[in-house]
Amino acid sequence: MERFEKSFTRQEPIPEAGIAAATEVMRSGILHRYGADPSHVAALEAEFAAQIGAAHAIAVASGGYAMGCALRALDVQPGEPVLTNAWTLAPVPGAIAATGARPLLVEVGEDLTIDLEDLAAKAPQARLLMLSHMRGHLADMERLMAVCDTHGVTVIEDCAHTMGASWNGHPSGRWGAVGCFSTQTYKHVNSGEGGLIVTDDPDLAARMVLMSGSYMLYGRHGAAPSEEVFARHTAQMPNVSGRMDELRAAILRPQIADLPLQAKRWNDRYRILEEAFRATPGLKMIERPQQEAFVGSSIQVLAAHAETLPGFVDGCAARGVEWKWFGADRPQGFTSAHAHWGYVEAQTLPRTDAILSRLLDMRVPLTFDAEDCARIGRIVADEAARHLA
Ligand SMILES: Cc1ncc(COP(=O)(O)O)c(C=O)c1O
Repeated sequence: MERFEKSFTRQEPIPEAGIAAATEVMRSGILHRYGADPSHVAALEAEFAAQIGAAHAIAVASGGYAMGCALRALDVQPGEPVLTNAWTLAPVPGAIAATGARPLLVEVGEDLTIDLEDLAAKAPQARLLMLSHMRGHLADMERLMAVCDTHGVTVIEDCAHTMGASWNGHPSGRWGAVGCFSTQTYKHVNSGEGGLIVTDDPDLAARMVLMSGSYMLYGRHGAAPSEEVFARHTAQMPNVSGRMDELRAAILRPQIADLPLQAKRWNDRYRILEEAFRATPGLKMIERPQQEAFVGSSIQVLAAHAETLPGFVDGCAARGVEWKWFGADRPQGFTSAHAHWGYVEAQTLPRTDAILSRLLDMRVPLTFDAEDCARIGRIVADEAARHLA
C-alpha cells in the first residue's frame, strides 16, 4: 500500500539572505530594535507598509499580541461583546478574552467564512468585529463592510492565514480599521514567533506603537505617524511590551520580499490537491470565489457524513497523511472548536456545529512537491473509498 513519508509541519529553510543578516545581528550583539541604527525592525515596517499599501505598520511579538494591541487601541472595555467568527483558532477568542472583553460568536457558512446574515443580526449588540480569515478563506468583503458600516461596527482583521491574499484586488488587512498578521513558523513568513499590524489611522498607529513598548523612542519606527500625533497619546497609553527584535526582522525581510512568489508556489500545490479531492467521492471541495486571490497554505474539505470521518482520518494517518478534524470531542494539537473554549460563555451555533462535524483541514507545506501532492491525493482517494463510500 502506498504511504506518505514527509512531515506536514516541516517548513522550508530561512533564505540565505536572512541567515546572513541574522548572523550579522548576532555578531553585533544589538538585538533590541531601539539599539540598532539602522534597524531591521524599522526597515521591515517600512517595507511591509509599502508592499501592502498601508500608511502605518508596526512589528510586534506575535499575531496574538497584534490582535490584543488593536483591541486595546480601540479602547475595548471589560465585559464588552466583541464579534468574531465561531470557527477560528484559539488565539482569536483568546486575544478578546485577555482584554476582559466577551467573544460574541458569529456562525460560519459552508464556504467557511463568517455568515453575513448572522453578523447583521448580532451587529447591533457590538462595536467591534474581530474578523478571522480562518484558513485563508475571505468573506465577500464589500458586503461584509457594508453590514459593519450600517451598524457602526469597526473591523479588525485577523490575517494570520491571509498574508499575501486579496479580495477583488484589495489586500486582506486593508479592509478594516486594523489588519493583524502573524509571522509564526506555520504562517506565510517564518520568524518562529512574530506579528505585524497595519492601519491607515494615525491615532490608532500611535496608540499601538506606544502600547507595544516604545517608551519615548517612537521616532525610530519605520512607518509610524508624526510627532504631533504621538503627543496626543503619550500620557494615555499603558506600556504592554510586545516589540519585535532585530533577529526576527532580519530573517523576515527577505521573506516578505519573496511573498508573491511563495504564494504562487503554494497555489501550485493547492491546485493538485484540490483536483484530486474534487474527484474523490465522499469529499466536497470548498469552492473559492473568483474575487478571492488566496494563498493555498492549507486545504479544507467537507465530508458527506460525520459518522464515518474518524475511520477515514485514522486510515489516512496510518498511511502518513494528516487531516485535522474540527468535529472531535476534545481539542487536539492546534485544533479546537468553540465548545472547547471554556473561558467563552457557551453559545448556540447550530449551523457552525453542523459544518465543523464534517470539516477536515490539511496543511500544505512548501517542502511538499507536485509528486508529493499527487501521492497524497491517491492515498486520500483510496481511504475515502474504504471508509466514506
Ligand atoms: C487564525 C489565527 N489567528 C491568529 C493566530 C495568532 O498568531 P500567533 O501564533 O502569532 O500569536 C493564529 C496562530 O496560529 C491563528 O491560527
